[in-house]
Amino acid sequence: MASGILVHPDARIGKDFAPAPDSVIDEDVVIGDGVTLGSFVHICAEAVLGDGCVVGDHVTIAAGAKLGPRCLIADLAVVGKRPRLAPTSTAKPGELKPLVLGEGCSVGSHTVLMAGSVFGPGCVVGDNAGVRERCTIGDGAVIGRGVTVENDTRIGARTKIQSGAYVTAYVVIEEDCFIAPMVVTTNDNYMGRTAERFKHLKGCTIRRGARVGGGAHILPGIEIGAEAFVATGAVVTRDVPAGKLVMGAPARVVRDVPPEQLLDNG
Ligand SMILES: CC(C)(COP(=O)(O)OP(=O)(O)OC[C@H]1O[C@@H](n2cnc3c(N)ncnc32)[C@H](O)[C@@H]1OP(=O)(O)O)[C@@H](O)C(=O)NCCC(=O)NCCS
Repeated sequence: MASGILVHPDARIGKDFAPAPDSVIDEDVVIGDGVTLGSFVHICAEAVLGDGCVVGDHVTIAAGAKLGPRCLIADLAVVGKRPRLAPTSTAKPGELKPLVLGEGCSVGSHTVLMAGSVFGPGCVVGDNAGVRERCTIGDGAVIGRGVTVENDTRIGARTKIQSGAYVTAYVVIEEDCFIAPMVVTTNDNYMGRTAERFKHLKGCTIRRGARVGGGAHILPGIEIGAEAFVATGAVVTRDVPAGKLVMGAPARVVRDVPPEQLLDNG
C-alpha cells in the first residue's frame, strides 16, 4: 500500500487497490476491486465504492455515500455532502439518506452533490455543477458544466441540461428533455416575502421530450407540454401546450413543432 494512507482497521478494501499517497479512509468504508484513488482523498465512514471506481485528487466522499461500479469522480469534487443551513433558513432537511450514484456515473471537477439524492446509472455531471438534496436523476441524464439543480427536483432519464442552467427547487423535468444553456426556472412569485408565499411555492413541470432554448425564463408553476419548444430568450408566463413552439416575452404560441423533430420520428 502507498505511503501515508490512513486506513481504518474496520475498512474493507478489495483487490488491486491503487491509491496515491496521503488519503484517509474511515471506519466501515467498503472499497471494491480495482479502485484507484488520487492524493488527499477523504473517504468518510460507511461510504461504499464499487469495483473499478476512479477517484481524482482532493476528493471528499461523504459518510455513507454509495458509488456503483466504475464511477469516475474528478479532482476536488465533494460527493454526498450534508447541508448546513443558515439559522434563518426555512428548509427542513430532516433525516437525509446518503447519496447514491448508479453504475458508471461521471462527476466533474469542483462539483458538489448533496446527500439524499439518487442518480441512475450512466449520469454525467459536468465541472462546477451542484445538485442539492432529495433530487432524483434518471438514467443517463446529463447535467452540464456550472448547472445548479436545487433541492427536491426530479430529472428524467436521458434529459440533457446544458451549461449554466438554473433548475430551482420542486421542478420536474421528465425524460428526453433538452434544457439549453442559461435557462432560468423560478418557483416563488413572492421573492422570499410574506408567509403567503409558502402556499404558492411551486417549480415548473417540463413534460417528456420538451425543449427549452438558451436563456429562456420559466415562471413558477408553469407546465410545458410534451415535445413543446420554447424559443431562445422567451419568458414563459402561461402553460405551453404539447407539441407547440412558443416565442417572445411573454411567450406566445407561434406554430406546431415540425413532425420530423418529434422524438418518435427522430
Ligand atoms: C425558434 C427559433 C428556431 C427561430 O424560429 P424561426 O421561426 O425559424 O425564426 P425566423 O428566423 O424565421 O424568424 C421569424 C420571426 O421571429 C423572430 N424571432 C426568431 N426567433 C425569435 C426568438 N427566439 N424570440 C423572439 N423573436 C424571434 C424573428 O426576428 C422574425 O421576426 P420578423 O418576421 O419580424 O423578422 C429560434 O429563435 C430558437 O429559439 N432557436 C433555439 C436556439 C437554442 O436555444 N439552441 C439551444 C442549443 S445552443
